[in-house]
Amino acid sequence: MKSIDPSQILIAPSLLSADFTRLGEAIELMEKAGADLLHCDVMDGHFVPNLTFGPPVIAAIKKHTDIPLDVHLMISNTDDTIGWYIAIEPRIISVHAESCIHLHRVIQQIKDAGILAGVVLNPGSSLHMIDDIIEMVDLVMLMGVNPGFGGQSFIESVVDKCIHLDEMCQTHKIRPIIEVDGGINAANAPRLLAAGANCFVAGNAVLGAVDPINAYQELRDGLEAAHQEISEKRNE
Ligand code: DX5
Ligand code: ZN
Repeated sequence: MKSIDPSQILIAPSLLSADFTRLGEAIELMEKAGADLLHCDVMDGHFVPNLTFGPPVIAAIKKHTDIPLDVHLMISNTDDTIGWYIAIEPRIISVHAESCIHLHRVIQQIKDAGILAGVVLNPGSSLHMIDDIIEMVDLVMLMGVNPGFGGQSFIESVVDKCIHLDEMCQTHKIRPIIEVDGGINAANAPRLLAAGANCFVAGNAVLGAVDPINAYQELRDGLEAAHQEISEKRNE
């Protein structure tokens, strides 16, 4: 598996926007693009109003590629089934704060397996939900849409939420990966970077594009340019 640097700008193309009859081809395209992570959306038709894939498909993807897997669980029974996903040993597993009965235990289980542990918040969930867990996690993911479908419009108020999350991290003197998922495109990603995010899930904007490799590169170029601008401003 390729390594990732959690302090760098990371792009995680989401396989949700791939043609499910040609997943292998989509993965190979993302290898050519140099994708940092492959985002795997697990939906159970219960926590979210859609169904995708589960452990057997993720295990097959893991065998097929060196790109580190970023598994996003949108399921109701996280506490009961987390072991299925831990057994696959992806690089990252993120669980919804809204779905875990024993969030602390689930995060601990993921970390004990040497996997990066992420906690996710829906747009309607307050940052306070993760007050008592934030120092434990490797990643915090903010949903930019209500989860369940690709191709939805980004909810603008998530930019401010990202700024508040970044402040919260500074207060705690921690630097988890800050990932944003849903509605990301070349226009809003640089603004989210300025708001403190460093990991960007892109479904429609990359694998939903006519030329996914080019779309990936454009997203990266925009983020690198924004990063440069932010650093120059800080040094002024
Ligand atoms: C949405 C999923 C996302 C989805 C994002 O519920 O969690 O990962 O793939 O797709 P876009 O980027 O098209 O909004
Ligand atoms: Zn996702």
